[in-house]
Amino acid sequence: MAVNPDKLMAFMGKLVGDLGAMMSIGPMVIGEKLGLYKAMADGSPVTAADLAAKTNTNERYVREWLCSQAASGFVEYDPATEAFAMTEEQAAALGAEGGPFYFLGAIELAVAMVRDEAKILEAFRTGQGVGWHEHDACLFRGTERFFRPGYMRHLLSEWIPALDGVQAKLEAGGSAADVGCGHGASTVLMAQAFPRSHFYGFDYHAPSIEKARAAAAAAGVGDRTTFEVAPAKAYPGSGYDLVTFFDCLHDMGDPTGAARHVHSTLAETGVWMIVEPMASDKTEENLNPIGRVYYSASSFICTPASKAQEVGLGLGAQAGEARLRKVIADGGFQHVRRAAETPFNMVLEARC
Ligand SMILES: C[S@@+](CC[C@H](N)C(=O)[O-])C[C@H]1O[C@@H](n2cnc3c(N)ncnc32)[C@H](O)[C@@H]1O
Repeated sequence: MAVNPDKLMAFMGKLVGDLGAMMSIGPMVIGEKLGLYKAMADGSPVTAADLAAKTNTNERYVREWLCSQAASGFVEYDPATEAFAMTEEQAAALGAEGGPFYFLGAIELAVAMVRDEAKILEAFRTGQGVGWHEHDACLFRGTERFFRPGYMRHLLSEWIPALDGVQAKLEAGGSAADVGCGHGASTVLMAQAFPRSHFYGFDYHAPSIEKARAAAAAAGVGDRTTFEVAPAKAYPGSGYDLVTFFDCLHDMGDPTGAARHVHSTLAETGVWMIVEPMASDKTEENLNPIGRVYYSASSFICTPASKAQEVGLGLGAQAGEARLRKVIADGGFQHVRRAAETPFNMVLEARC
């Protein structure tokens, strides 16, 4: 094969850019843990000495960190004053923890992937699964922190209003089950918005359920939430007005079995909301930055999680709407439609 030197250099250039992004993981983790981003979030220009003094850290290290951040485009540098500052947009993404655009939860997911490499390596060889619960604990916290900002932006203002009759039922006082609820970010948001309704959060992962309970209590919605350890195919209760699956159907080994159980637990006019990663049915249409994130996470987290469970279907995080619709229909649902979407998620509504 003859190598085209121009194409090779262009490819090497792309890889160097990607390498810089990969090597930013450490500085981003440090920046969050030491409060470096937060200390810059008000937009005031800082020198390394200023930032080190503000955060009780070492100036020499902080200078190197600031330069890495400026080279990454995460902060701005003014050569005239030798000061660094964050724009409002950089501060929203990197400095405003708990806000709707906060990004650093995603980095914790990336850390979990690196830490679990040995287990996944073995799984690639054997074809065995690696259960959600078998991952490094930073996966659970990282997942919550990665997804919560998106739920804050879209769940109450777009997704629930897009469902057939659900908003009115929850306002009047209904019941909802949030299955695969993890740390309960979505459950708590819904409970805050609909004080007359009761929200049940279920997840097979006991430590996540404990965190969800604590999060609900801290948010003041402990009275209208109940969290229990339960698998998607056998959670308790019936007559739910709404059942929600946030970014978890594809993680399950037997999503069709789960769909069947949802069908049996919904009220006659109840709605199943399935929030799944945005993906086309065609692989070639997923070969973009979003698909890159999801396929990478899927190979280390979602597909192994599914393969570790009964049936082990392994839908993957880029299953696409057609495959999801088949799972939902095989579970007994007659009506499925795409109710809403964002660049990261598609929201399907299923009714009996
Ligand atoms: C990607 S996380 C999403 C968590 C949460 N819904 C969120 O959006 O933050 C997937 C969740 O599904 C849960 N899960 C996976 N398989 C499950 C099953 N068969 N039954 C119940 N929960 C399951 C995992 O424990 C994990 O909390």
